Amino acid sequence: MEKKNFAVIGYGGIGSGFHCRRAEKSDVLNLVGIYDVKPERREKARADGVFAYETMEALLSDPKIELVTVATPNNFHKDIVIAALEAGKHVVCEKPAALSSAELEEMIAASERTGKLFTVHQNRRWDTDKLRVADLCRNGRIGRIVSIESRVHGSRGIPGDWRRRKEQGGGMVLDWGVHLIDQAIMIFEGVKVTSVYARLDHITSQEVDDGCHIVLGFENGVFYTVEVGTNNYINLPRFYVRGTAGTAVIDDWNQPLRAVVKRSALEKDALPIRAESGLTKTMAPRDSDTVESFEVPVPESDVHDFYRNFCRAIDGKEPQIVTHEEMRRVMKLMETVFESAGKNQVIHTEI
Ligand SMILES: NC(=O)c1ccc[n+]([C@@H]2O[C@H](COP(=O)([O-])OP(=O)(O)OC[C@H]3O[C@@H](n4cnc5c(N)ncnc54)[C@H](O)[C@@H]3O)[C@@H](O)[C@H]2O)c1
Repeated sequence: MEKKNFAVIGYGGIGSGFHCRRAEKSDVLNLVGIYDVKPERREKARADGVFAYETMEALLSDPKIELVTVATPNNFHKDIVIAALEAGKHVVCEKPAALSSAELEEMIAASERTGKLFTVHQNRRWDTDKLRVADLCRNGRIGRIVSIESRVHGSRGIPGDWRRRKEQGGGMVLDWGVHLIDQAIMIFEGVKVTSVYARLDHITSQEVDDGCHIVLGFENGVFYTVEVGTNNYINLPRFYVRGTAGTAVIDDWNQPLRAVVKRSALEKDALPIRAESGLTKTMAPRDSDTVESFEVPVPESDVHDFYRNFCRAIDGKEPQIVTHEEMRRVMKLMETVFESAGKNQVIHTEI
């Protein structure tokens, strides 16, 4: 495939450090240039050997450019995406695609009107922990899945400046919740979320949430917890999965999946153990001969497949992986998270 001429709007953390750096080594993208509203970021691009347009209009009116990635703070996504689509460019937008379903619908309408493709950068679909949990849910090695807990924990509060501002689309639901919710609906592809209950943290920030605890109830009975913490000095496992026949855990990024499954033929009663100020059989550990364990090592995964797919989609060779319908579902789920947290109620849905 001929490489697509590519430009990035917003030369900040992800625009420079991820999209541009990867494009420089890409087999499908040819980095033409960037635009950033801050002159010092344009200067930085030039120092990095990347062409910087002086205005966004100059970038958008350059007929060479076929594909634009928008990597600005969240509140600018809608207007820039629509301007780029109307300038005849195919557009990748950083997550979250928009601040509301209403904004997202305007963006999708612009894509349909102009006939140019529009998607959102849901790069964490390629995370190896999510890929292995998705496999486990399909292959039945720990039985039928009962619950999943998906957590990311940090301890430094909300980073940066705009992520602390409500009008800029700050807060952790929009920053990390968006990834973990997208992973959840991809692990149970095609299964509706029928209930949402959420509590938000305001430990280091009153203006926006600095963490969230969300329970998604799937139509298949699975309870899926999404937790984002920025004030956690001890991390819980990245994934904890319970099935009817076993339990699996992934302790941290780039760690193996470890699972323990029951050997039903060897089921036997437990002897009571002393547990703190009482005795218990229920919570007694198992004899090692009644269980077996397995590990799934970290598999190969290449997040650049996101751009490979989008470039092939532009050429009409395959459908885009991150679809408008999936973008709508994630946006509606995040809105329902805020509704549930605001009312402190379970919200029943069909999302
Ligand atoms: N997918 C991921 O893994 C991931 C990771 C980090 C950030 N992001 C997303 O990427 C986007 C940017 O985040 P970041 O961490 O790089 O932020 P950042 O603050 O580091 O960078 C944003 C850049 O955009 C520029 N900018 C601001 N307004 C602009 C405008 N109107 N036109 C052009 N440039 C403008 C800023 O000057 C800055 O250089 C956000 O939407 C964020 O959610 C995604």
